[in-house]
Amino acid sequence: MRIVQSIAQLRAALQHHDSIGLVPTMGALHDGHGALIDRSVRDNRTTVVSLFVNPLQFDRPSDLAAYPRILDADAAFAQARNADILFAPDASEMYPQPQRAFVHLELLPDHLCGRFRPGHFRGVATVVLKLLDIVRPHRAYFGEKDAQQLAIIRRMTADLNVLVEIVPVPTVREPDGLAMSSRNRLLAPNHRALAPLLFQTLRDAAQLIASGETNPETVQASARAAIAAAPDIRLEYFEIVDPAELQPVERINGPVLVALAAFLGSVRLIDNVLARPAVTEPRP
Ligand code: PAF
Repeated sequence: MRIVQSIAQLRAALQHHDSIGLVPTMGALHDGHGALIDRSVRDNRTTVVSLFVNPLQFDRPSDLAAYPRILDADAAFAQARNADILFAPDASEMYPQPQRAFVHLELLPDHLCGRFRPGHFRGVATVVLKLLDIVRPHRAYFGEKDAQQLAIIRRMTADLNVLVEIVPVPTVREPDGLAMSSRNRLLAPNHRALAPLLFQTLRDAAQLIASGETNPETVQASARAAIAAAPDIRLEYFEIVDPAELQPVERINGPVLVALAAFLGSVRLIDNVLARPAVTEPRP
């Protein structure tokens, strides 16, 4: 595996490659990233893993400062999963001058994480579009854990006619259900012990929906009560939205994305499930 830090070198290295998969990451790689890399290695002749902690998408400077940076361990991880190139530029390579051009999406960032993290998805969409243009992959791989990010990137590439296939990869979980995340390693032991309650609450909500509950407020109230019983968890949001436009639904009569964000101490975790009602009504 080659480690490349400059855009010019990366473009030169990829010049004659005809089947390229891109796995964009911010490092601190874990088995969730491993699943993205494995899928890309299976689908493509060349897999590029990008590792860039993108300052543009952090709304809290303390979050950017605390984000784990472990390049050597990440390089060993990517190599062990058979990636071909690790693209690890620094901020001056990605943003050599103050950034004046950004990708702005309407509607999709208005709820879920976007409501609480102003500018976050503008930063994500902008850096992903830059990476897609730098690498020109045939396929790019994103985890379903970041459901809003995935929906936004799909919509951006479709609306802007970016020639790439966006491949969603299912969330990888710890044996107790906690979704794998680079932030999990920042959890205090007592918070780590509580964290599986998040997925448990989502599963219970999906169960309620599958058993016929069509009122989102009833599902939300039950989830909020479950999380309020754990005093160390501060729920930021628990929302039920349509999976494409990410807008809250008034009635659950088709598949819905059930998503939450919560703070355990200062660590913010997100998770989601796709829930299906007992009977899906045809759209009018
Ligand atoms: O999901 C992430 O790690 C980041 O948001 C991404 C897609 C690499 C963009 O910085």
